[in-house]
Amino acid sequence: MKRPTMSEITRAPAIEISGLRVYSPSRQILRDVCLAIPHGAVFALLGPSGAGKSTLLRCINRLIELSPGLRVQGDIRLMGRSIYAPGSDVDALRARVGILFQQPAVFPGSIKKNVLFGVRHLGKAPKRLWPEIAERALRDAALWVEVKDRMDDSALELSVGQRQRLCLARALAVEPEVLLLDEPTSALDPLSTEAIEESLRRLRGRRTLVMVTHDPRQARRLADRVACLQVRDGAGEIAESGSALSRID
Ligand SMILES: Nc1ncnc2c1ncn2[C@@H]1O[C@H](COP(=O)(O)OP(=O)(O)O)[C@@H](O)[C@H]1O
Ligand SMILES: [Mg+2]
Repeated sequence: MKRPTMSEITRAPAIEISGLRVYSPSRQILRDVCLAIPHGAVFALLGPSGAGKSTLLRCINRLIELSPGLRVQGDIRLMGRSIYAPGSDVDALRARVGILFQQPAVFPGSIKKNVLFGVRHLGKAPKRLWPEIAERALRDAALWVEVKDRMDDSALELSVGQRQRLCLARALAVEPEVLLLDEPTSALDPLSTEAIEESLRRLRGRRTLVMVTHDPRQARRLADRVACLQVRDGAGEIAESGSALSRID
């Protein structure tokens, strides 16, 4: 996928979802989702379990295609260009749209290998820059101080909270334009949650963040905009969206 020109960027929202519908073989999962997510925003998605929040997130980087049987209709534009257009490059899309899951998935290798995984895979930066890239990403994820003297140790020695920050650093290291976060702190203790929230706050304006959370207080602490999904007749749909967080308690 070609990078958009500057004028395309300034005209369009970072992400524009229009008439998005998702079906499983037996029923509709999401109904007519329309959302515009501005550049640099922290956008929170709330709603009950089963409303389709993860499904919606997985449509934005086309991970949904790894679930056999699910069918997607409608369109999603990233910086003004359809990600579902024929011929779009899914690997390039996933490099531009990173994702962080509820459970941190670290590999059995070293901390250094983990943080540089995407950078090596994509071959985007020369090897001499890797130490600098790793440090910056780990600093952005509030983990640098804890791991700087043990970069060659196994990532499996880290606590769950540290692992989630490592996953955040790994996602940030490839400098995605958009970061999707699916309940990123719900498996974490309060201190690790605070560390992740602080990192996300510092990313505001530099990246577009789309975060699923079940916690309205977390949305209030972090988000500029909120959309709430509800289930009606068995399918998830947008109940409301806007910037007034006081309305969604
Ligand atoms: N691969 C799939 N095949 C069939 N149904 C699915 C699949 N993935 C999700 N669903 C269904 O879609 C609905 C929404 O799921 P999900 O997006 O995980 O909700 P949430 O993240 O809001 O809890 C659920 O009823 C779930 O069972
Ligand atoms: Mg979910």
